[in-house]
Amino acid sequence: MLKGRHLFEPSDLSLKEVDEIFSLAEEIMENQNKFLDICKGKLLATLFYEPSTRTRFSFEAAMFRLGGQVIGFSDPNASSTAKGESIEDTIRTVGCYADIVVMRHPEKDIPKHASKYSDVPVINAGDGSNQHPTQTLTDLLTIKSFKKKLSNHVIGLCGDLKFGRTVHSLVKALSRYEDIKFVFISPPELKIPDYIKEELKEDSYYETEQLEDVMDDLDILYMTRVQKERFSDEEEYLRLKNQYILTTDKLKTAKKDMIIMHPLPRVNEIAREVDNNERAVYFKQAKLGMFVRMALIAKLLGVK
Ligand code: NCD
Repeated sequence: MLKGRHLFEPSDLSLKEVDEIFSLAEEIMENQNKFLDICKGKLLATLFYEPSTRTRFSFEAAMFRLGGQVIGFSDPNASSTAKGESIEDTIRTVGCYADIVVMRHPEKDIPKHASKYSDVPVINAGDGSNQHPTQTLTDLLTIKSFKKKLSNHVIGLCGDLKFGRTVHSLVKALSRYEDIKFVFISPPELKIPDYIKEELKEDSYYETEQLEDVMDDLDILYMTRVQKERFSDEEEYLRLKNQYILTTDKLKTAKKDMIIMHPLPRVNEIAREVDNNERAVYFKQAKLGMFVRMALIAKLLGVK
């Protein structure tokens, strides 16, 4: 039963619950008209203490498309945070008005902490470089849609594996499926953290700096942006930001049915020419993100 639950990281959901969310998302995609007012009279609050395009808009679009309504802020300076109000008091207040809260925050575990003061479900929409469970649901549904299964894949994750929360969430979530091999592609400075590797079977991953060398091995290539906002040293960011730029030429050795994913926003790491490559699915991925959030909202509110 998902009704009333919070969501901080993918492992808060059992594999069966993930399946149920995907089944509902697929049902919604097939017949949106059937779901036009299942959230009528319900209110979703979006509390975004960090910038967002896809996550916030897809949550808001999801709620509107289910017949519900939305309140919230995308700039905390426009809320009483600017007057010094604590997160605890903000969530306590918002929980009086809304039926479900979506929160993004630059610090790890703040949505989890805030949920202790909330009577309504709190969804983590990204907490610092820690976790981003709804992007992971989006990513898993994308893999399922294009590769027809969630097990038995070689997935290359490329770019900022140190700070990228979507990577941390996705690796944790995918490691629960059978026969997943991870190829971590990054410069030494942006390697996947040890605490993530420690949870993986030793023979289920390897690390490299060279994208081209491993390209022909991959079923999925997950590109990521170097997370500028997490660097304390701008020089270092400037040095690392263009280390990987995926071009059509670099795809020459890729499997024909490999898919290229990216949580977006993209900066320089995928050349625009790649958008027309049949392997590129990142904008379709963004669209699936709305449907999976529709399903998640409906489940947490207990209307489906
Ligand atoms: C990601 C995020 O916020 O972590 N964006 C998203 O939610 N799709 C990735 C990023 O910002 O690079």
